[in-house]
Amino acid sequence: MIIDLLRNHYRKDPTVKRHFAKAVTWRVVGTLDTILLGFLITGDLPTGVRIGALELFTKILLYFIHERIWVSIPYGLPEVFKRQRKKTQEGSNLFRQQFAVNRQERERKNGHPAFTMWFTGLSGSGKSTLASAIDEWLHQEGIHSYIIDGDNTRMGINSDLNFSREGREENIRRVAELCRLFNDAGMVVISSFISPFSADRERARNIIGEHCFHEVHIAASLETCIKRDTKGLYQKALKGDIRDFTGVNSPYEAPADPEIRLDTDQLNMQECLQSLKEWILTHPLSGRQHITGT
Ligand code: ADX
Repeated sequence: MIIDLLRNHYRKDPTVKRHFAKAVTWRVVGTLDTILLGFLITGDLPTGVRIGALELFTKILLYFIHERIWVSIPYGLPEVFKRQRKKTQEGSNLFRQQFAVNRQERERKNGHPAFTMWFTGLSGSGKSTLASAIDEWLHQEGIHSYIIDGDNTRMGINSDLNFSREGREENIRRVAELCRLFNDAGMVVISSFISPFSADRERARNIIGEHCFHEVHIAASLETCIKRDTKGLYQKALKGDIRDFTGVNSPYEAPADPEIRLDTDQLNMQECLQSLKEWILTHPLSGRQHITGT
């Protein structure tokens, strides 16, 4: 009966077998040690073997119970494992729903595919200016588009996150999920986030889907961004008034192989906009003759 209870309770948890295996292997090692010690103390090998045999069963059971109790205690686990555990626990009772109107149907009705242009670059590199201009053009051309932007989302859905490594990781994860939903709704998304870490952008690519994720590097040197300093944040960061400020006291990992790189140091906004339009017309929107590109 106890075995049945355990079996039903832990049926879906893949760590049970592992803990049982660990309980057995560790106990074999421990028992050999006990037999040896029993023999050394009493000088009698059969006594040592008897103590070892008794210990073998009781301690396998105790070790296994101890491991299973620790499974439900998150104490000392890094945040990323805690989130993963929560997801696994919840995930087992969730079922992805399919609805009557799907993404293909929405794309067909809109007359264009849905995709995400993921703008990444330093603060002050020109992401928001370019995002706004390209969104305006898409809108005029009858493309259903929307900008999801770092400052705005950090004042709303992500207002609980800071700029630590973990805060940024979670910021990008949530935003990538948002982009996925907007794409599923048939929209073109222009996401505008510093997204300084390659691993987070790679994760976003996986969430959104390789075929509809396009990385756009808005490249500008740190010197240029400091010179522009449109929000006055670099000045504060350089004085030490802002912690973890990208480029000053937090790193920016430039994309090694973005779909398109726009160098706002060398090109003016109009030139960047023109390059981006041309790229859109020859890549995600290729074959859409009714769009002018001017
Ligand atoms: S990200 O690194 O997590 O992708 P995100 O794009 O959402 O950043 O937000 C960046 C915006 O937050 C910047 O444009 C800037 O206005 C503001 N900001 C405030 N503190 C910081 C900081 N420590 N580092 C970078 N940007 C900051």
